[in-house]
Amino acid sequence: MKLVRMDDSYLSENVKHNIPSTQGLEIRRAHKWIHQGGGEGSEFLGWVQLPVLLQEDEVDEILYTAEVLQNETDVMIVIGIGGSYLGARAAIQMLTPTFQNRIYFAGHQMSATYLKDLVDEVDDAQFCINIISKSGTTLESALTFRFFRELLMEQCGDEATNRIIVTTDAKKGALYELAQREGYKTFVIPDNIGGRYSVLTPVGLLPMAYAGIDIEDVLEGASLAFEDCRHVDLQKNDAYRYAVIRNLLMAEDKHIEVMVQYEPKLYYFTEWWKQLFGESEGKDGKGLFPANLSFSTDLHSMGQYLQQGPRHMFETVLWVDEPDVDWSITGLGDETDGLSYLEGKGLNYVNKIAMEATTQAHSDGGVPTLLFHFSRLDAHTFGYAVYFFMMACAMSAYLLGVNPFNQPGVETYKRNMYRLLTSDEEQN
Ligand code: PA5
Repeated sequence: MKLVRMDDSYLSENVKHNIPSTQGLEIRRAHKWIHQGGGEGSEFLGWVQLPVLLQEDEVDEILYTAEVLQNETDVMIVIGIGGSYLGARAAIQMLTPTFQNRIYFAGHQMSATYLKDLVDEVDDAQFCINIISKSGTTLESALTFRFFRELLMEQCGDEATNRIIVTTDAKKGALYELAQREGYKTFVIPDNIGGRYSVLTPVGLLPMAYAGIDIEDVLEGASLAFEDCRHVDLQKNDAYRYAVIRNLLMAEDKHIEVMVQYEPKLYYFTEWWKQLFGESEGKDGKGLFPANLSFSTDLHSMGQYLQQGPRHMFETVLWVDEPDVDWSITGLGDETDGLSYLEGKGLNYVNKIAMEATTQAHSDGGVPTLLFHFSRLDAHTFGYAVYFFMMACAMSAYLLGVNPFNQPGVETYKRNMYRLLTSDEEQN
């Protein structure tokens, strides 16, 4: 059952003509690398089978831990960066009420102002901490953790030990050692799963469970995607078809892929996607630049550029087929602003017309457009969508000729920072 469905009818006949009708050689080879290994980065393929292999015991443990914490605390501070926080953030934004917050994110930047504001926010609340770091040495999260750990100890003394949950490597790293020493409860990020492919591990699942999301539904959705993405045939596997289309468009000098949502609840899903593709593909001088726009908000800022700027981008639109809520437009009959033609219509209908009108306009203006239909904003669809895009990303990167699972370039800024910070220390 497809909970995310691709519509490529807006693409030009030329692009569609170039999509291989059966599986090409390169696709078959990449498919084999993803499912059986043999390609670059094959030590990080643990996510492929995860939806069907995740142990029931582990899910039960996550649910139990989340329930205990929910009963004893008001809010959770999730500390992590990149793949160690974006999946949970995407799920929580998509699946929980927009203005009710039990989860705060920190450690994804180093702003003292943000920290102070968060401290003010949680000062009177009973809070717990989920620190998430595979390496255990990421500066942003390590510094933030120290800060909140101290605050928690001031707030509740020895009880702090029970309110700190560490998600990290199974047997090594600074964070692992700290957790052993202090007796913090730990969850494991498997060795064979990299950060940006880890949303279906405790990295994503514990914060989701604490937020009240049904993680069993998330995993069930991912298992459905696992079934749909097993085919090598592009007619059956939309994830591979999407990967092929991206590469075809890149060959036509498109350098930017703009993912667009018409639903604010998908903003962080797109941020998660941006990290997944940006970090997986942007290497060896190759890769599309993944960008995130929210419509219709950004139609009033970037719409002009999209319609008439350089033709170096394509658009990937996310659309929700069945939103749970609609709003009937009423009370327009007597107004003078000329909107009476909308009387009685639903807001979702108007949003849909905005999507169709914009997609047609951009497509006519030379911006190739792909449409993804998300069936609903529910846990099954979330699980399906993250698995679908991880599969698409692995295929796309292999077709591009890069390792989908490493990020050697990220180290450069870290080395520079270390050099500057330590030379600063010498000068002081
Ligand atoms: O995708 C990745 O591997 C990265 O984005 C990492 O998740 C990010 O750098 C955080 O690393 P760590 O979990 O080691 O703190």
